[in-house]
Amino acid sequence: MTNEDGMKTVRVALGARSYDVRIGAGLLARAGAEIAPLLHRPRVAILTDENVAARHLAPLREALSAEGIAAFALAMTPGEATKSWAGLQKAVEWLLAEEIERHDVVIALGGGVIGDLAGFAAAILRRGVRFVQIPTSLLAQVDSSVGGKTGINSGHGKNLVGAFHQPSLVLADIDVLDTLAPRDFLAGYGEVVKYGLLGDAAFFEWLEVNGPGMARRDAALRAYAVRRSVEMKAEIVARDETEAGDRALLNLGHTFGHALEAATGYSDRLLHGEAVAIGCALAFDLSARLGLCAQEVPSRVRAHLAAMGMRRDLSDIPGDLPDADGLLSLMGQDKKVVDGRLHFVLARAIGQSFVTSEVAADVVRGLLSDALA
Ligand code: GLY
Repeated sequence: MTNEDGMKTVRVALGARSYDVRIGAGLLARAGAEIAPLLHRPRVAILTDENVAARHLAPLREALSAEGIAAFALAMTPGEATKSWAGLQKAVEWLLAEEIERHDVVIALGGGVIGDLAGFAAAILRRGVRFVQIPTSLLAQVDSSVGGKTGINSGHGKNLVGAFHQPSLVLADIDVLDTLAPRDFLAGYGEVVKYGLLGDAAFFEWLEVNGPGMARRDAALRAYAVRRSVEMKAEIVARDETEAGDRALLNLGHTFGHALEAATGYSDRLLHGEAVAIGCALAFDLSARLGLCAQEVPSRVRAHLAAMGMRRDLSDIPGDLPDADGLLSLMGQDKKVVDGRLHFVLARAIGQSFVTSEVAADVVRGLLSDALA
């Protein structure tokens, strides 16, 4: 849906938990007007991180204050380590100290770490308060801010503690993407490509033509790609909110990707979206090796990642990696393991993916050995 002001709205249709994702330039400056209708009293708590706060907290406060909304903010330490029991405790205790009540709204201003943490804090605070996502990374705009997955990491693995808690509103301001470092933008782009690969060949073709323009900061191209990604995610989440079936398609590239992230210590060696992009290439390799898709499809996937200047092979990851057995065992620890079987998202063609647990470990081991060689 397009409004007269150029904003796009994608509805996530979940009955009583339905909400809008608003996409467009200048949304941060309009946040007060967008959020005001949700409030029982003119007062909100903002959870953010120090890096995001330095750039975007003042404009957000100004936008809220223009509507007479008082805002209290807590800026957490940037980085994945904040998505922890300690980070959660800090956030929840702060929200209680700020006397956030059952009918108040918490704002998550930041990337995936802050969105997941603030969403989970909101899910458990006073047995659940509403929250608004203002995602500031491309990855958060197209993936983590939409769909209600919230949570923290445990010593046992990433995202192992959490809840489904849908936001009441998502504001994806395309302008804030201009402040991203090129590497962070491209990591988020890994999730954008994933949507084309998993379910929309025409979108993948569009990205092949327009991805480079997006990297050069063309706002209209970025807005379209965010909207199409969010539309696809909204449609899948509406069908399968709690990942009993189709939502698992969103995990294309993630079984390989999570193993690579674990192998690189969840560090700067490999960002999540980079791991997903390499994981997508490997998922198409596996599909081709199993005779599910044509042999040339993985090369086409890699050619696009290369044209975008993205990592696409295991050899693009700096430093040593475990051997094929080591990677396979890291895949076995992923939460996509059900009854001891690895779950993969494979594809019959670009845009035609499906979930399977029928892949023999030996085939995956052989693929990884060749990819590491
Ligand atoms: N990031 C995958 C999902 O939201 O289901």
